[in-house]
Amino acid sequence: MKNYDVEHAWHYHNGTKHPNGILLSRFHSFHPEMRPSPYKIYNDVQKIHLTLDKEPIGISALDAISNLDDSKVDDIPDLNVLTRLLYFSGGITRKIKFPPPVGEFEFRAASCTGALYHIEIYVVCSDIPGLDAGVYHFDPKELKLHILRKGDFRQEIVDATAEEDFVKQAPVMLIFTDVFSRNSIKYQAREYRHAFWDCGTMLANTLAIISAHKISSRLISGFVDHMINNLLGLDSNKEASLFILPVGHTNKPIPKSSPLVSTNTESTNSDNDVDYPEINYIHEASSLCNYIEVQSWRKHFIKSQQIVTDLIPLKNELLTTDGIEKVILKRGSTRTFSHDSISFEQLSTVRLPSGSYHYVKEKNSLQLLRGGDFRAISGNLGLGQDLPRDASVTIFFMANLQKILENFGNRGYRIAQLEAAIIGGKMYLAAYALGLGATGLTFYDDMVTNFFSPHATNKDPMFLIALGKKTTFHS
Ligand SMILES: Cc1cc2nc3c(=O)[nH]c(=O)nc-3n(C[C@H](O)[C@H](O)[C@H](O)COP(=O)(O)O)c2cc1C
Repeated sequence: MKNYDVEHAWHYHNGTKHPNGILLSRFHSFHPEMRPSPYKIYNDVQKIHLTLDKEPIGISALDAISNLDDSKVDDIPDLNVLTRLLYFSGGITRKIKFPPPVGEFEFRAASCTGALYHIEIYVVCSDIPGLDAGVYHFDPKELKLHILRKGDFRQEIVDATAEEDFVKQAPVMLIFTDVFSRNSIKYQAREYRHAFWDCGTMLANTLAIISAHKISSRLISGFVDHMINNLLGLDSNKEASLFILPVGHTNKPIPKSSPLVSTNTESTNSDNDVDYPEINYIHEASSLCNYIEVQSWRKHFIKSQQIVTDLIPLKNELLTTDGIEKVILKRGSTRTFSHDSISFEQLSTVRLPSGSYHYVKEKNSLQLLRGGDFRAISGNLGLGQDLPRDASVTIFFMANLQKILENFGNRGYRIAQLEAAIIGGKMYLAAYALGLGATGLTFYDDMVTNFFSPHATNKDPMFLIALGKKTTFHS
């Protein structure tokens, strides 16, 4: 099994470290006019117009991201709920005019490295109220679904996930894919990390809206990759499935799928294709090839390791009741931070007080590693940018990759990146709910490990988010 030949993950990870990773060229440059279209275009497919209901459902953002309510009520999402899920995950929430050559720029619900929006969402569903069974692609530009296949194809996903229990009972599945070249054009081979970062920030939104609607869901990371790619009609050298999110619950058995003929859909993913073979290698090396492989891989997956983030709620009088929809709509990556500090209560809610600390999850507390003012160092660690220097707190998510790869093989690399990004995405939302600013950032890998060592020896940074007070309204 190539998945357990973890030299592939190490080669990729070490090779894409800033500043000197051998898979990154120092001379690479990117100019705004090179930005590929962030929309996948299908020629000659039927489309379904979606009508968006932005009305708040009455659940605060802080409740929605902390999954406080677990009573699952409405378990077959209708088209209205599905549209909300898609929109608040990947829809266009803001348009800003910039001077040429950029012009009007469409920002989406979740943050994304370089605003290149390389994560696509597909829907595979049974008949649900308002929508026939089918395989669909979500078009955020026009707020439409492209019809890729008509009929119930969920059994393909059941087979690809080696009959995962949750999948077997879900009326709707969302599939998140990555269009490699749309992001690698700027970030080269480091794109494959961004795939999980940017999928993670989207999923933080998706999970929050799912939780607000009290629908059940479970993120599925183990599946036969090529089966899902075929189902969606992807050219897997260019675009590949990353995660499956079954949504809702039904007791009706899934019918047999119709034979899987080619989708015959012509599509354009990106008008600026430059391939980075390292991305294809690591993706292939972390792929699962058949039912047996998925089944045995899943045994390593202990239930307690599911992605959950419990927040420490503020005292009631400090709690903000802003609805999840409002917070997603006002979220944006902060472009300038004031040097003002944020209150301890605000930090507790987004999980981390300021300083050079290690967050001890089991005790829900902070362990002081080193006292002192690390503002300048923080700026250096965050690729020498002003944002991590000016923010009140920079939070580095670190993982012991060796242990993760031993257990989960190369595919563990995907999950380690994603888990950090989902929590980071939830922090984005928590920060905006509290009237703070936030931005994801990239970093000099080994400098981060060294800074937090000896505590962080054997750990690698996966994701970085900076929090603080904004100096301007958006941006
Ligand atoms: C994982 C991650 C890393 C990011 N890294 C940087 C960065 O290094 N510098 C920066 O200025 N912005 C960074 N951003 C912010 C993006 O540029 C921003 O999300 C994108 O332009 C979309 O804008 P919005 O978040 O305001 O919607 C990062 C965002 C994410 C999600």
